[in-house]
Amino acid sequence: MDQQPIWYVDGHWVHPQEACIPLTDVAVLRGYSVFESLRTYDRRPFRLDDHLDRLYRSAELIDLMVPYTRQEIRAVLEETIRRNAFRHASLRILVTGGGSEDGVLPSGKPLLAVMITPLPERDLEAFQRGLRVITCRLRREAPEAKTTNYIAAVRALKEAARHGAADALFVDEQGYVLEGTRSNFFVFRGDTLITPREGMLPGVTRTVVLELARDRFPIEERPIALAELASVDEAFLTASSKEIMPVVQIDELIVGTGQAGPRTWELEQRFIALVEQGRF
Ligand SMILES: Cc1ncc(COP(=O)(O)O)c(C=O)c1O
Repeated sequence: MDQQPIWYVDGHWVHPQEACIPLTDVAVLRGYSVFESLRTYDRRPFRLDDHLDRLYRSAELIDLMVPYTRQEIRAVLEETIRRNAFRHASLRILVTGGGSEDGVLPSGKPLLAVMITPLPERDLEAFQRGLRVITCRLRREAPEAKTTNYIAAVRALKEAARHGAADALFVDEQGYVLEGTRSNFFVFRGDTLITPREGMLPGVTRTVVLELARDRFPIEERPIALAELASVDEAFLTASSKEIMPVVQIDELIVGTGQAGPRTWELEQRFIALVEQGRF
């Protein structure tokens, strides 16, 4: 089998360098499109139904009608996995706004694309080291929808790179921490697990982590003030392609002991067991 990825774009199977969409699409002209990003373990998609639910929900939130059924999208995903021999991979599903005659109002049919890229094995040394992140005040457009407008994320990541940090946390006008640029945010205060409920993308990994924590830790889904960070014991981010990533420093603040914490490690072990037992 060809080791170069084969992607699906609007009815065609192409290599990434040949993959293109028309410049008349409002996805390109105006950033009007939705997408999903999920992963496979041993060629099996993780929580596919949750990702498809979120794709349609994101589209609804920005008033984009997806002219593809779940079955059609599932079939393309299955074929993408079949055509690409990667053991673990990241899959992106893109639904564009469609072509436009006046350059703003979509008049053409939204286009469907599925992209696949290989993922490495889990890196537990990186987990132990944890991440250093910065905070930033940039605002995401339609934060509960997964649209391709990642201007705030790109700007925040550039700022993070300038500070030698791995990522950035979005903080709202009231001083509450919402999420990472491509991840959800959690803290432990003692045994209590706290994560925001609103103002951010409802992550699929976030839901899984809350399910894994439910019988073990008290859970509070509520705003987390920046000022509260000084009294947290552990912090971590969650995302499909990265699972659970401990955060050991936020701006100048060292989180807890400055190392991946024991409760976060316990959740990570539960996550690994879930994956290894194929319970997804
Ligand atoms: C802004 C944002 N928040 C949170 C997440 C985490 O979502 P998930 O766990 O479904 O990957 C992502 C993932 O891409 C994201 O882009």
